[in-house]
Order: sequence, then C-alpha cells, then structure tokens
Amino acid sequence: MDSTDRLFSFARRAQPLEKSHIRAISDKVKAVDGINLGQGICDLPTPEPIKERTKAAVDANKSIYSHHAGIEPLREHILAKAQTVNDLPARSIEEVVVGVGSTGVFVTAAMALLEAGDEAVLFEPFYGYHRNILELTGATVCTVPLGGPDDTFDPAVFEAAVTDRTKVVVVNTPANPSGKVWTRGELESLLNLLQRHDLIALTDEIYEYMLYDNAEHLSLGSLPDAYERTITISGFSKAYNMTGWRLGYGVGPEPLIEQMGLVNDLLYICAPRPLQHGVLAVFEEMDKAYLDNLQRDYAERRRRMCETLEAEGFDVPWPKGAYYALADFSPLQDVRPGFADDLEATETMIREARVGCVTGRSFYDDPADGATKLRFCFGKEMDDLKQACRQIRNAFET
Ligand SMILES: Cc1ncc(COP(=O)(O)O)c(C=O)c1O
Repeated sequence: MDSTDRLFSFARRAQPLEKSHIRAISDKVKAVDGINLGQGICDLPTPEPIKERTKAAVDANKSIYSHHAGIEPLREHILAKAQTVNDLPARSIEEVVVGVGSTGVFVTAAMALLEAGDEAVLFEPFYGYHRNILELTGATVCTVPLGGPDDTFDPAVFEAAVTDRTKVVVVNTPANPSGKVWTRGELESLLNLLQRHDLIALTDEIYEYMLYDNAEHLSLGSLPDAYERTITISGFSKAYNMTGWRLGYGVGPEPLIEQMGLVNDLLYICAPRPLQHGVLAVFEEMDKAYLDNLQRDYAERRRRMCETLEAEGFDVPWPKGAYYALADFSPLQDVRPGFADDLEATETMIREARVGCVTGRSFYDDPADGATKLRFCFGKEMDDLKQACRQIRNAFET
C-alpha cells in the first residue's frame, strides 16, 4: 500500500457512503437555475418568535454547553407535548433527550442499541438516512415492503423478515417518501409482533403535523404496553421551517434515554445551546393556530403538486402525510422520450422543466423497484411551487 492508498483507506463502515444522489441532483438543478423539488429542505422562513427568542439567547450569552440531554425548561415542554399531543405515558424529563436534529437522536438510539451481528427492520420505500445510519452501526438492515399511502401493513410479510438476531424496527409515520400514515389497527398488529419477538421500535415522527384527508397521527408509544419498547423521535426542522438549526428530541423509557444521552454527550456534548433557548418560543409563544395554518397550507401545496403531475400523465398516489409525492411515470414511458428509467427521468425533468426531483431507486434496496418512480418535495414557498408546476406543465405541453 503506497502512502496515498494509506491516507485514503477508510474504515469499512464509511466505505459504502457516497455523496447522496439527492445532493448531486441539487447541484445540477442549481447549474440550470432551476427549482429544486428534490431535497427535503423546506425553505419557508423560520417563524419570527423563534428567531427573536434565539437572538435574545445569543445576546444573553447562553452559549456554554448545556446538560447533555438538553436544557431543563425545553425538556419539560417536550415532556408535556409528548404527554398531551402524542399521548405517551412519559412521566419525567429523564425520559426526554434533546439532540442534534431528529437525525442526531436517531443516531444516538442506533449507536446505543445496535452492533455487528444485530438486525434492524426497515420498511420500504425507506428514507435513505435511516438505512445508512443503521448500517453505520455494523448492524444488518432487512427491508420489508410496505408500499404507498393506500397500502396496508402486512404482519405476515413482516414476521417473515424477523430472525432471532432482529433487535430494532424503524417506523416512520407519516412516511418519507410514500406519504403513508400508519393507522391504529396497523400499529396494533405491529406492536403484537414487537412483543412476541421482543423487539424495540424507533419511531420517526418528524412529519407528525403534516396530515391530509383527515388522516390522524398516532404514536406507537401511546398504545397500551408499547411505551416500554418504543423510542419516539421527532423534532422542529419540518413543522417550524428550521432544518439547518439541528434540533430534535427523543422520548422513551428512562434506561434507553439515559444510554442515548450518554452517546449524545460523547458525539455532540449537547444540541446547540442558544437554539435550545430559541425553540422555547414554540411552546411558550406559538399557538395551535400556527399548526392549523401549516396543515391548510400544506394541503394546498399537495393539491397543486399532485394535480400537476397527474395532468401530465404521472400516476400519483396522493400522500396522506409528510410533504412528498412519490409519482410513477410508467404511463409516460410509451408516449414520451426521456423516461426509460428514474435516472433518465430525473435528467429529463431538470433539462426540460428545470425542476429537480429524486430517483425512485433512492428509496429501495433493489433499484428496479424504484425504476419508474420520482419523488417530488412540495415543502416550498408557494410562489416557487407554483412556478415549478408551471415549468412542468410548459415542458410537457409544448
Ligand atoms: C423521515 C425523516 N426523518 C428525519 C429527517 C431529518 O430531520 P432532522 O432535520 O430533524 O434531522 C428527514 C428529512 O428529510 C426525514 O425525511
């Protein structure tokens, strides 16, 4: 091995990582001055009360490390929210950890629970970060097909994937990219299997406030006897338009949260301190009207996105939650060039409509399963979304 080989001989756990396809698309969209509906970066402005509170915290020099699990007043508020909004039987702030985004919390849970030899179940289509983070721990990921917003969890398919090495199951509801919202019946039958096989659930509920068609968000941890084996993860990025701030939280049984807190301490020491003070505004200054408006605005964005894609021939299962449309372009394949597969279709959308989207294969183990799909993110300023829809219509109708 010469010196260059040695310098760049990375640990095995990091070798499979590559620049995310989603980021690569973002670069290409930028190059044509297009509109990026690819990356799930909601670019709406952060609400003023949060910004003001944060500026005050910065001015007051609230700048030193906090407790590794977060400042107490924030953990108190999250505890109350977990009890009232999510109906979790959490009792103390020792059951709450504030982390570096919900992603940071997911990392601490995965690192605390999993190692080589363990298996984790992930439903497909999946959010790529989930798979990559689980694999970074050395664990093996088993994917279980779940389908779209109108498909139903099949306990038999799940159970077939469980082995005596399975330890963790990830439940993302509302789901990225499918827009599926798990129903009570589905969560109950999953819980039954978690109990039977003694498994732990990591739930990612970051899109809990983005729901359509009267879909209701239900936390797995609120079901009877589920809390003891569930870590409920959420955060502020999506509902409060602050993806770059990196603040999220986990709620669960004290021994699990304590261990996650120790990993959080080791990896990050704490979540950004002034920002922790800033998000107190969410609980102390912002009311339910904010979330009601959010729901209404997203319903309108969903309508525009899905109607536009449908009008141009895509098959679009309208999401029940989150802010993505995972559209199938197979009806277009016989009538338009440039849609042979998802890779080509993404290039075509950038070239002809100057709109970025994500290849379906990013969400499946086997690329063939996503080869006729594209994901469009409608978490955008309304004017930008309208313009993106116009560009799609123009590209298809000229
Ligand atoms: C399912 C899911 N979980 C988590 C995240 C990231 O959340 P955070 O900014 O809180 O780390 C995303 C972002 O796209 C997501 O889609």
